[in-house]
Amino acid sequence: MEENEQSARGLHFVGKKDELIEAKRSFRSIEDRDILIIYHQGVFYAMDSYCYHAGGMLNNGDIEEINGKLCIICPKHKYKLTLAKGECLYKGNNPKEKPPVPRWYSKGVKQRTHTVTENNGEIYVKLSDNPNWIESDYYQGEKGKIERAKA
Ligand code: FES
Repeated sequence: MEENEQSARGLHFVGKKDELIEAKRSFRSIEDRDILIIYHQGVFYAMDSYCYHAGGMLNNGDIEEINGKLCIICPKHKYKLTLAKGECLYKGNNPKEKPPVPRWYSKGVKQRTHTVTENNGEIYVKLSDNPNWIESDYYQGEKGKIERAKA
């Protein structure tokens, strides 16, 4: 693919596949957005690198399967974010159940995720074009950057 064609399609080259596989977690800044690229069990994922909750750095988070979904666990307060969609999962009880059984629920999409594609051993990220506010956007903005620095 020609370079012009890539940028016209919003694709940003982020590295060679082999290198990103070896690194497992890679940090990139794309159009002023700080992104974490994760390679896990044969699949690449990309998401905003600061946790929507309080700006924790996700790059050192463990990955676990929760309720059938792979999640990164934020090292700061252990929030669980699905790699594929950025949903935040939590365990709760439904008080209407007798006796209540703890189950996993979703708070919805809180972390912005991005699209990763491969072409000839090269990896590209396309930033999410979802026009809606997603909570992790906060820590990518100027105010969020100041708060992250204070934390
Ligand atoms: Fe990630 Fe609080 S900052 S769980």
